[in-house]
Amino acid sequence: MTQDAELPEHVARNRAHWDATAERWVAPGERSWAQQDPTWGIWGVPEFELHLLPDDLEGRDVIELGCGTGYVSAWLARRGARPVGIDNSPKQLETARRLQVEHGLEFPLHLGNAEATPFPDASFDIAISEYGAAIWCDPYLWIPEAARLLRPGGELIFLGNSVIQMLTVPDLLVDGPSTDRLLRPQFGMHRFEWPDDDSVEFHIPHGEMIRLLRDSRFEVTDLIEIQAPPDATASFEYTSPEWSRQWPSEEVWKARKVR
Ligand SMILES: C[S@@+](CC[C@H](N)C(=O)[O-])C[C@H]1O[C@@H](n2cnc3c(N)ncnc32)[C@H](O)[C@@H]1O
Repeated sequence: MTQDAELPEHVARNRAHWDATAERWVAPGERSWAQQDPTWGIWGVPEFELHLLPDDLEGRDVIELGCGTGYVSAWLARRGARPVGIDNSPKQLETARRLQVEHGLEFPLHLGNAEATPFPDASFDIAISEYGAAIWCDPYLWIPEAARLLRPGGELIFLGNSVIQMLTVPDLLVDGPSTDRLLRPQFGMHRFEWPDDDSVEFHIPHGEMIRLLRDSRFEVTDLIEIQAPPDATASFEYTSPEWSRQWPSEEVWKARKVR
């Protein structure tokens, strides 16, 4: 196991954060594991509407980068894929392991940093992250790492907060959800820390993301800006259904490794 002292500063901080808050994610993890059909992001948009996943998952090797309680990997395993989950939080993995036993569905789970994994080059067909590496890892580290892990033709799929969400959400949760005002510059956005929180997130502008993906041997195949469904109810304080009907609070990137 990597000792906390050896981890990069933001990874050590995020491990402490996720271990401290893991209890909060037990019930959502249990609900998601019990679901047969995938739904995505904070609005729970069904897979049949978003089409995040390739049609044929049978026998495909998948790495979930920042798997948390492991429900995305469980959905993929039930569709015939061979998932492996990696996560930085021992506590989150404890929940994932318990849910594996309860659901009789086992796949490898590793404790580690998705920016520097122990897996061999070209060992997966799909790399996926829903609010895992997608927002908690430095994109300039985890995207090249995902490229290393994927076979040529392999697919990268990741979902996280949108750029416009990050530009319009107040610093403090008590000040309410995302607004119709730009509250911080887009130029230079990369590392985010919040005054009322101890974690570190990463979000970069679209142009930079396209260049990073291309420099990492990916071609971008889609950028899906998620609209909250008409019947959406608020489940997170940082954005509202009304706002997210007008602007995307979340986005999905899809890319294929070209060589
Ligand atoms: C929100 S959960 C993602 C799992 C699930 N899809 C979800 O939405 O609940 C975020 C996960 O990212 C993990 N994480 C944060 N930094 C990480 C890193 N450097 N490497 C691997 N996992 C990391 C956290 O431990 C946490 O379990």
